[in-house]
Amino acid sequence: MQEKRPLLEVRNLEKRFGGVRALQGASLIIEAGETIALVGDNGAGKSTFVKSIAGVQPADTGEILLNGKPVSIRTPKDAGALGIEVVYQDLALANSLDVAANVFLGDEPRLLNLGWFSIPDTKKIARETAETLKRLRINIPDPNRPVANLSGGQRQAVAIGRSVRKGLRELLILDEPTAALGVEEVRKVLALIESLKESGQSMLIISHDLEHVFRVADRVAVMRQGRVIATRRIADVTKTDVVRLIVGDLEGAVA
Ligand SMILES: Nc1ncnc2c1ncn2[C@@H]1O[C@H](COP(=O)(O)OP(=O)(O)O)[C@@H](O)[C@H]1O
Ligand SMILES: [Mg+2]
Repeated sequence: MQEKRPLLEVRNLEKRFGGVRALQGASLIIEAGETIALVGDNGAGKSTFVKSIAGVQPADTGEILLNGKPVSIRTPKDAGALGIEVVYQDLALANSLDVAANVFLGDEPRLLNLGWFSIPDTKKIARETAETLKRLRINIPDPNRPVANLSGGQRQAVAIGRSVRKGLRELLILDEPTAALGVEEVRKVLALIESLKESGQSMLIISHDLEHVFRVADRVAVMRQGRVIATRRIADVTKTDVVRLIVGDLEGAVA
């Protein structure tokens, strides 16, 4: 029988910025279908860790294995080709374009494509956008408006919709998906995350909000000083335990 391999295995990442050691041997294992919350104080290395998995800022040393195979992720394109997709906190949406254009951004189906001249297949784009939004139960009354006019939660939904338009990704990484949203908006984004989870999407979610972490995550991974110092099953810990791991005495924290 074949041994079950983790979806993603990150081993010993190191990353320096001049004299700053942003990652000092960060390791993490993610199983297929799992939702892991990545938590830690400001400066703990969460963004750097995620950027190295996403090829945005590759680590100096360390290994990444996807489904048991070592992979080289030097650019976001490498990560994308492997099915690793990141939705960033600052939401890289094109504000002047509408929802459909943002869902397809740079990947629009064409009626005609001569390279220097092409005609987008607007019907297909509109249809597939509507299908994507429906599948994710995202309600945007007027998808023809520029996304600049959408609320924060709707923008987050569009960004997530774009990343799973072609179906589930190997790993979806969300950077602070509920930051800076109102209560109702948070509820919707969490519902969207839960529906992705139900459909089997593996996710790594950076979050500051333990309330949200405890709602959607299976496990929590705590970063401190450039390392993942602990991972815990959500079912096995309280929020106080997690806070202690994040900011408490390091000696007592790591077990
Ligand atoms: N581009 C950069 N240049 C210099 N230092 C950086 C850079 N990115 C991150 N750092 C430093 O690396 C450490 C980890 O940062 P970061 O990964 O952003 O932490 P977090 O996301 O957990 O707040 C911090 O000390 C931060 O100042
Ligand atoms: Mg950060």
